[in-house]
Amino acid sequence: MTKPAPGAAVVTGAAGGLGRAVAAALHADGWPVLLTDVDAEAVATAAGPFGGWSRPLDVRDEAACAAVAAEAAGRHGLGLWVNNAGILVTGPAWEHDAATRRRVIEVNALGAMNGTLAALAVMRPQGHGHVLNVVSLAGLVAAPGETVYAASKHALVAFSIGIQADLRLAGHRDVHVSCLCPDGIWTPMLHDKLDEPAAAASFTGTLLSPERVARRAARLARRPRAVVSVPRWRGAQVRLFDALPGAALRLTPLILAAGRAGQRRQRRRGRDPR
Ligand SMILES: NC(=O)c1ccc[n+]([C@@H]2O[C@H](COP(=O)([O-])OP(=O)(O)OC[C@H]3O[C@@H](n4cnc5c(N)ncnc54)[C@H](O)[C@@H]3O)[C@@H](O)[C@H]2O)c1
Repeated sequence: MTKPAPGAAVVTGAAGGLGRAVAAALHADGWPVLLTDVDAEAVATAAGPFGGWSRPLDVRDEAACAAVAAEAAGRHGLGLWVNNAGILVTGPAWEHDAATRRRVIEVNALGAMNGTLAALAVMRPQGHGHVLNVVSLAGLVAAPGETVYAASKHALVAFSIGIQADLRLAGHRDVHVSCLCPDGIWTPMLHDKLDEPAAAASFTGTLLSPERVARRAARLARRPRAVVSVPRWRGAQVRLFDALPGAALRLTPLILAAGRAGQRRQRRRGRDPR
């Protein structure tokens, strides 16, 4: 569809949801795509229509991330690494046990750092490449009911923007790190959250289809940018709340009421938001 991609693309958490949609959009754009996921069987099945290249990968395993990066580099060169794998736990943090809090941080923040550093170990010496980190609007603003998740995503934004600056300071002009911050997406991550008041923050805006977000990801892969929100106006809105935390706190009951209305709307609509 577009010019041939400079190397392969690796997508983590690609067995379903947004990851599989991103793999499909990149495949359609001409990238050889290596789909990875902690669920080996599901990712092997998912990879079928997109070239059939898959590997089991738990992003918490630093050495395994490095091995996947080396495999992709050996086969096509590594052009793009998409840190998409993520988990969501809802409810007040005091209701989670320590293992749950640790798992969210390990997958969403440390896992994405493992992926980024594995990719950069290849991209820095080769002099080009792009790490695309799938964050969330919860990486830009506090999300009541999703606080540990939001903390993990804030960590990823800080890491991504900071490491991009470090790359420039080290003279790497053609190695890029981008953050993609979507609103709620109708994927398995939210399919069981329609009756959960603590998950209302995910339904306060426009519930997106994975295909729409994946198209934006493929465009971002062609043209890296530090932080991109989907939709753009929601990024501006949550950044305003972030800048005015006192006002945001006062508005929280109203915002969450809008989220509960979004959950009811989606229940009426059924499983397809388009
Ligand atoms: N769904 C949303 O509303 C939404 C909104 C904004 C951002 N996001 C982000 O988009 C990304 C994709 O989420 P999704 O909505 O497709 O969720 P999903 O639950 O549908 O898919 C997540 C995938 O990650 C995999 N995974 C989980 N732990 C893993 C690990 N340790 N190593 C490797 N793979 C692992 C799962 O097996 C699954 O295939 C996540 O980073 C999520 O935080 C989602």
